[in-house]
This record gives sequence, structure tokens and C-alpha cells, in this order.
Amino acid sequence: MPQYDESGRLLRVGRDLKHIAFIMDGNGRWAERRGLSREKGHTEGMKAFEKAVKYCGELGLEVMTVYAFSTENWKRPEREVRKIMALLEKYLDKLLEKASEYEVRVRFIGERKSLSDRLQQKIVMAEDATSKYGRILNIALNYGGRAEITAAVNKLISAGRRTVSEDDISGALYTSGIPDPDLIVRTAGEQRLSNFLLWQSAYSEFYFTDTLWPDIDEAEIQRAVENYYKRTRRFGAVR
Ligand code: IPE
Ligand code: IPE
Ligand code: MG
Repeated sequence: MPQYDESGRLLRVGRDLKHIAFIMDGNGRWAERRGLSREKGHTEGMKAFEKAVKYCGELGLEVMTVYAFSTENWKRPEREVRKIMALLEKYLDKLLEKASEYEVRVRFIGERKSLSDRLQQKIVMAEDATSKYGRILNIALNYGGRAEITAAVNKLISAGRRTVSEDDISGALYTSGIPDPDLIVRTAGEQRLSNFLLWQSAYSEFYFTDTLWPDIDEAEIQRAVENYYKRTRRFGAVR
């Protein structure tokens, strides 16, 4: 069960909550409401992301996954795409500089070949530099659930398989070996997956909030966790 301090602040999640995945939505609306550029919204979103990573670590979560850029997000203006990629590069620079401060094993999930060579190199370096840490941060970048499942099946076919099991597919996904998300949090009011973790979310709980991603804070994450603990997870069985 989760632990709290005297003031009611959440300190630790229970062992039955290992993995939270966030669909970080609403950066654009956050900026537009303030008369700012969408790019500015992504800058603020990055700050919120860094704080959320820190808090999720303190809570004792084994895995945190964030949806940073979907396979469909290339449809956005080039300037906006460039800004998102630049912010991620900057984050990797920071991570490479002080990996020991972050104490998180970063992993990128998604198709990499379409990313710039420099970003691809930094991803490899960051994954190597942080591979000794136990807590996992998955960053979904140029990620699409359908593309992931399709790639997994093709991988198995290339390996000579003619029929595949569910375990085979799970094992061929980017998330192989990582527990499925217990809880998926989506900010900014939309109640859809937008091609995120389609396979892995089969029995995830969902928490939707109108809070825009740049405004997400510890209190909102605490609400999501508390909401999770009110659910009864049956996985199809009778309790
Ligand atoms: C951030 O929010 C998610 C990304 C695709 C980077 P959005 O940029 O989608 O914000 P809204 O939905 O336009 O408000
Ligand atoms: C989902 O958000 C992708 C990310 C959060 C990276 P979008 O803003 O792209 O999703 P839609 O277009 O509203 O479904
Ligand atoms: Mg959006």
C-alpha cells in the first residue's frame, strides 16, 4: 500500500504499482492560452517532464514511460518538430553530464532511423551511460503502437517463424522484459490512446485529467495514484 507523510503527501507507492506511463499532452494549448508560441509550450512541457521523472523516482516506481513524439507527429510544422527534437537533445546532454544525479536507466522506444544522426548517437550514449541503474525511464520517440507490433511480427518472420505466440510478440516489442503499464495517465482532457502502447495497455488502468502537461505537478500525480488504488483489477477473473 502507498505511504504518506503526516501532511498527507504521498511518499511511496505500493509494490503493486510498478509502472506509470504518461501521455504528455497539452503543451500547445498551454502556450496558445497565454498567447505564446507552441514551441514555448514544449519548453515548459520539458520542465514539467523533468520534475515528473524526479518525483516518480522518489515514489519508488520501477518504470516510467513517457510519450514524447508519435509516428504521426511528423505531420506538425517543421519548426515545432525541430523544437521538440532539440529539447530532447538538450535533455540527453544534461543526462550525459550528470547521469549519477538522475540515477535512471533511460531507454528510447520507437523507430530511430528517421531521427538525425546526432540525436541517434546521443540516444546510444545516454542508454550506455545509464545502463547500470535499476529504475527505467522509457522515452517513446517516433513511437507508434501499430508500427511497433508490425515490426515485432516482421522480426519474428525474418527469424524464420511461421506462427507466433503472444509471448513471442511481447518479447519482440521495444518493451520486452518490462512490466506492462499498471496506470496510463493522459493530460489535457483527451480520452484516447493516440497509438500509444496498444499491446501493453491491454489491462492498464486509465487516468484522464484536464490539467495541461506543463501544469502537471506532484499533487496531480498523487491524485492519479490515489485514483489507481480505488480500482479493482480483475484481469478477467472473478474476485
Ligand atoms: C505535447 O502536447 C505532445 C506532443 C506531441 C509533443 P501537444 O503539442 O499535443 O499539445 P496540444 O494537444 O496541441 O495542446
Ligand atoms: C499524443 O498526443 C502524442 C504525444 C503525447 C507525444 P497528440 O496531441 O499527438 O494526439 P492527438 O493528435 O490529439 O490524438
Ligand atoms: Mg496534443
